[in-house]
Amino acid sequence: MLGKKLYFFGGKGGVGKTTVSSAFSLLLAKAGKKVLIISTDPAHSLSDLFETNVGPEVREVLPNLFATEIDPGKEVSTYVESALNAVERAVSPEVFSQIKEVFHAVEHTPGVEEAVTVDTLSRKILDNLRGFDCFVVDTAPTGHTLAMLRTVERVGRWMEELIERKMRAESLKEMAGTETGGHGTLRILKERRERLTGFARLVFSEDTLFVPVMNPERLSILETERLIENLEHMGVGVTHLVVNKVLPEETDCEFLRKRKTQEREYLELIGKRFRNLRVLTLKMKPTDLKGIGDLEKVAEELEAEL
Ligand SMILES: Nc1ncnc2c1ncn2[C@@H]1O[C@H](COP(=O)(O)OP(=O)(O)OP(=O)(O)O)[C@@H](O)[C@H]1O
Ligand SMILES: [Mg+2]
Repeated sequence: MLGKKLYFFGGKGGVGKTTVSSAFSLLLAKAGKKVLIISTDPAHSLSDLFETNVGPEVREVLPNLFATEIDPGKEVSTYVESALNAVERAVSPEVFSQIKEVFHAVEHTPGVEEAVTVDTLSRKILDNLRGFDCFVVDTAPTGHTLAMLRTVERVGRWMEELIERKMRAESLKEMAGTETGGHGTLRILKERRERLTGFARLVFSEDTLFVPVMNPERLSILETERLIENLEHMGVGVTHLVVNKVLPEETDCEFLRKRKTQEREYLELIGKRFRNLRVLTLKMKPTDLKGIGDLEKVAEELEAEL
């Protein structure tokens, strides 16, 4: 599992994606790697866990460990604002007020958030590719993450179509003798295509691993099966699985003993259903995890499982 360039940690809401991806990043940083952990979750969960304000800029939170948080909703608004600024300069106020409405409608179109997340994520990773040994992505819950990866799959094709259309429009205008000034846009589109296809090449390569995180519960098992099926179909590498929040073996509480009996059945099922993956288990702690001290303990536990 060690030695990859890019890791995604994903799974159902609340299973422990942020905790496990942060602990894994800490483990790598302690082993001397320079790591960047990126969260695509708007809840600012890294800031919460590391007990420091992480924010959209890349910043060092511990020696060798850098972090940044992408807020997809905010990124979309920033995109729309900057596009509108450019349009405002080019058209009359009447036309602008109509265009403005269309742009704001686009903000809420399905798929836009994923596209902008992919664009931002690809920039954060590719612009820093040589600066870091590896990148760890703490993703939003399963549905969003699959949509995001599908966007990575398709985005190269979209860019190709956009560029073709733009080129056709430019040559028509040139034939009509109209000054276009559109070559700057074409250059930007081509740069973006290069970046996004480069990112897709990395995501669907041997240098990338997707690590599903789950809990030993029925719904979590079902969702993880679907997640892995989708990932394999897309060609994203999956070799390890983290089962988090496993109850302790010993208990003198009747209630917990009963839960543990059921959990043992689920753990057995997990072993069978995911027999081609290495299963790493992490114990349920008596309290929620917060701060570096807690993270270090999870990192040690994870290291012992590797
Ligand atoms: N092994 C554990 N033992 C006890 N509590 C844990 C454990 N792992 C995670 N938690 C707690 O469970 C909660 C959810 O964890 P975390 O935020 O890492 O999950 P997540 O999958 O990132 O959630 P979300 O889907 O909201 O992003 C947190 O309060 C965290 O402290
Ligand atoms: Mg999280």
